[in-house]
Amino acid sequence: MTHLTLIRPDDWHLHLRDGDIMAAVLPDTARRFARAIIMPNLKPPVTTVEQARAYRERILQALPTGMQFEPLMTLHLTETMPLTEIAKAKASGIVHAVKYYPADATTNSEFGVTDIRRCYPLFAAMEQHDIPLLMHGEVTDPTVDVFDREAIFIERHLAPLVQAFPGLRMVLEHITTSAAAAFVRETPNNVAATITPHHLLFNRNALFEKGLRPHYYCLPLLKREEHRQALIVAATSGNPSFFLGTDSAPHPRHAKESACGCAGIYSAHAALELYAEVFEQAGALDKLEAFASFHGPDFYQLPRNRDTLTLVRKEWTVASELSYGADMLVPLRAGAEVAWRLAE
Ligand code: DOR
Ligand code: ZN
Repeated sequence: MTHLTLIRPDDWHLHLRDGDIMAAVLPDTARRFARAIIMPNLKPPVTTVEQARAYRERILQALPTGMQFEPLMTLHLTETMPLTEIAKAKASGIVHAVKYYPADATTNSEFGVTDIRRCYPLFAAMEQHDIPLLMHGEVTDPTVDVFDREAIFIERHLAPLVQAFPGLRMVLEHITTSAAAAFVRETPNNVAATITPHHLLFNRNALFEKGLRPHYYCLPLLKREEHRQALIVAATSGNPSFFLGTDSAPHPRHAKESACGCAGIYSAHAALELYAEVFEQAGALDKLEAFASFHGPDFYQLPRNRDTLTLVRKEWTVASELSYGADMLVPLRAGAEVAWRLAE
């Protein structure tokens, strides 16, 4: 196959940041995706509908003229969020979900939740107003091995949550393990998962190939090959509970290449093309459209896009770095080939 035409996809998990760095990365996403779920982990985090509305305006302002893109806003869950904010979020029409970060799990998550049970009243309000809960599904318990944090989160927190709130739509974001894929497959359709291109393409060896590779450091961490294989099976299965979410998370080069480097992989510049590589290698290109363009809007109860996007099987070389405001950023596949490209 040399051409692949799909209904235009959406990205159901994206970090856009803010200010001039947002302006630097936004066109990469808008060229490929009609909409994206925008993560709220700014500093300070987006915790109110008013802040989400202002952030949405800044995103639209930063969009180059002639480009179409719809930011789907989220609120950052806090233990002190007033219950009334949930009804406000629903009524706003611009906030599509609330994001749970365990405190100190990842970038700017010092504002996250220390005890998930304290949020149960908020989850009840979300269930009542039918607002999805998005989860960074890792425990931060320092006694738990970093590679086990997702599996333990599912056992300790997600399983009880699914029992307690059978009507709450939930997305386990950026899943990395066979345990997560199995859990989502075995629970009812109100529980879904996003899968990133990097967790489909790499296992944890990538972090240590002939040296320490900070540009492969993300959270949750890359896992063993058997887990990557389980994610490929899930993504290409046609099961509507799995959909595309890049978790494209830009950081300046100096913040990654550091004694204490930031977690996050930038993939927006080649996101759909990289997913196409994975699906092609799995002999499942015919499953890409549903994963990228149907399952997400169906879960979020939004209309599917109407226009299309075409990929061409023609190699191109990713730049070794991209400009990122006053800094530079090292994209996924920097200086190497990607098999698919967007049609002109
Ligand atoms: O690798 C990650 N980067 N994981 C996250 O959960 C957050 C993200 C970021 O914001 O940089
Ligand atoms: Zn993320």
